[in-house]
Amino acid sequence: MSIEILPLAGTLGADIHGVDVATIDDATFEAVHQALLDHGVIVLRDQDITPAQQIAFAKRWNDLHTHPYLAGLPEHPEIIEIIKEPDEEGGFGAHWHTDQIFTPAPAMATMLYAKEVPAVGGDTMFASMPTAYEALSDGMKAMLRHVHTFSQYNKTAKRSGKMSGKVTKPSKPAVHPIIRVHPETRRPGLYINEMENLRHLDGMTVEESTPIINYLIRHATKPEFTCRVRWEVGSLAVWDNRQLMHMALNDYPGRRRVMHRITIKGDVPFGLDEAGDLP
Ligand SMILES: [Fe+2]
Repeated sequence: MSIEILPLAGTLGADIHGVDVATIDDATFEAVHQALLDHGVIVLRDQDITPAQQIAFAKRWNDLHTHPYLAGLPEHPEIIEIIKEPDEEGGFGAHWHTDQIFTPAPAMATMLYAKEVPAVGGDTMFASMPTAYEALSDGMKAMLRHVHTFSQYNKTAKRSGKMSGKVTKPSKPAVHPIIRVHPETRRPGLYINEMENLRHLDGMTVEESTPIINYLIRHATKPEFTCRVRWEVGSLAVWDNRQLMHMALNDYPGRRRVMHRITIKGDVPFGLDEAGDLP
């Protein structure tokens, strides 16, 4: 296969052409894997695959992650179908976040396959967390070195968009370093969410945490740290939750969108060492 990688923006994101994920060989997969590490989010265009083929491609990365609170398709439980009907108002994932920060070992990557998309609208935004971290002052970096976030799934948060399964009750909270070291690239990056599932900073009150988290979100989502993915039917995106936040844009009232989502198992996040160096 002759693979073409076209960056989407100056900081992150790439479109990939010339790959058929249904018949991908090991060497091409290695190039795609490296592109994910380099660009954070990759979009494999013009795919025509079955749920079984999407699952097989996802398994090349790692074991699949079963969502703790959402059920999958009846015949393919690894796939969560995200449907937004024309008359629905809210949007699934319509705030800045990294997937499953509220679990002890969040998904390494998320794979979204576009089955049905509006002619315009419904794009997804991504932001590079290592780039955002590097742009902080030395004083802020030092202050954050020992800070951890405290997250717990918020089942009362306003959500809509239909899933193929039910949202059930969450269990334990998760505590993660706010500066996360990427286990493959070794780049440190901010590891945060807008305050929904992220409740507060560990050991601090909500009142103390809110201005810090709000500042970091505002900083980390500056336009120059972002890219925007425009979906077409057959687009298969993979993004690296260890180095990005993302946000689904809810700007297509009256139109329908159907996506097939798989999440891939990740490790337990780790931060910098006591001295602020890479461990
Ligand atoms: Fe998400």
